[in-house]
Amino acid sequence: MRVDGKAFRTIWVADDGQSVEIIDQTRLPHVFEKVTLSSVAAAAHAIRSMQVRGAPLIGVTAAYGVCLALAEDASDAALDAACEALLATRPTAVNLRFALDAMREAVAPLPPAERREAAWRRAGELADEDVRLCQAIGEHGAKLLHAAAKGEAPLQILTHCNAGWLATVDWGTALAPIYTAHEQGLPLHVWVDETRPRNQGASLTAWELLQHGVPHTVVADNAGGHLMRAGRVDFCITGSDRVAANGDVCNKIGTYLKALAAADNGIPYYAALPYTTIDWTLADGDAIPIEERSADEVGRITGRTDDGKLATVDILPAGSPAANPAFDVTPARLVTGLVTERGVCEASREGLLGLYPERR
Ligand code: MRU
Repeated sequence: MRVDGKAFRTIWVADDGQSVEIIDQTRLPHVFEKVTLSSVAAAAHAIRSMQVRGAPLIGVTAAYGVCLALAEDASDAALDAACEALLATRPTAVNLRFALDAMREAVAPLPPAERREAAWRRAGELADEDVRLCQAIGEHGAKLLHAAAKGEAPLQILTHCNAGWLATVDWGTALAPIYTAHEQGLPLHVWVDETRPRNQGASLTAWELLQHGVPHTVVADNAGGHLMRAGRVDFCITGSDRVAANGDVCNKIGTYLKALAAADNGIPYYAALPYTTIDWTLADGDAIPIEERSADEVGRITGRTDDGKLATVDILPAGSPAANPAFDVTPARLVTGLVTERGVCEASREGLLGLYPERR
């Protein structure tokens, strides 16, 4: 996707061929800054600190983290340690496990001397595949948006968190259909949930949509239900960090409330995700580990001050405890459908198996 007209991915191999570059998402939307990752520790830090975030991008960053680890030491012990350290960075997005399994499968059977090259090759394939998957999600999802269109009036779409190109290698999941339909000329407007506490909607989704000229409005998280009741939302779509085999959707905290409000108002709610987000080992969403993040993210907020500097301020009374569950699970019954690279299906075991019959 484009930043000031220039095409970017969210992660790429640096010119030296031995390190990886990312966009530091903790600085957006105010500062566009690239960061070089030269060690597995730096890759793990980037994921944990959310310099990179979003389920697919977390996975691909971990894959490159394995490359960086093997560059230092290509032994079995180093491979095990790297996978363990990277897997521990964030618990909810299953794409992390998927990518590490794929890397291990590609390199573990090889003698250590051959592992480095194989690792870079496999990580590159995973990155390229993610782009293809998201592009296909965009095409399938755009058909849904066209079908929901209201003639000349812009289709009113609500999204939560950031499931755009910044959350993937390129294109995004929930935003890919929006970009595709927008490029196809469908009039649309996106309601962007700010997505407290880390404000991925306000900071990242709004920035992406602005860069691409997609009409949008940022709203406080609590505005969604009101907008839906007032008939100002036609379509809800989010990404997902993990979908259980029965179609339960785990996504950024607050998604469940939007799905409830959408169901109550007869508005479709879709989750968009690649196959790397489906956890076939879990019968339903109850066993999905929900990340508990630092209470500081609830109690403090970062923004740009009038003098142009970034500043972090306290917003809670000193001494008030805060809790910060980062994800929630939306039961499949509230999900109108799942948009995948293979097409759209019902959020159910049968629906998913219809698209992925090899899992039967
Ligand atoms: O905590 P984050 O910013 O990593 O959470 C991201 C989300 O919840 C996204 O909606 C999800 O990863 C799907 S991204 C394509």
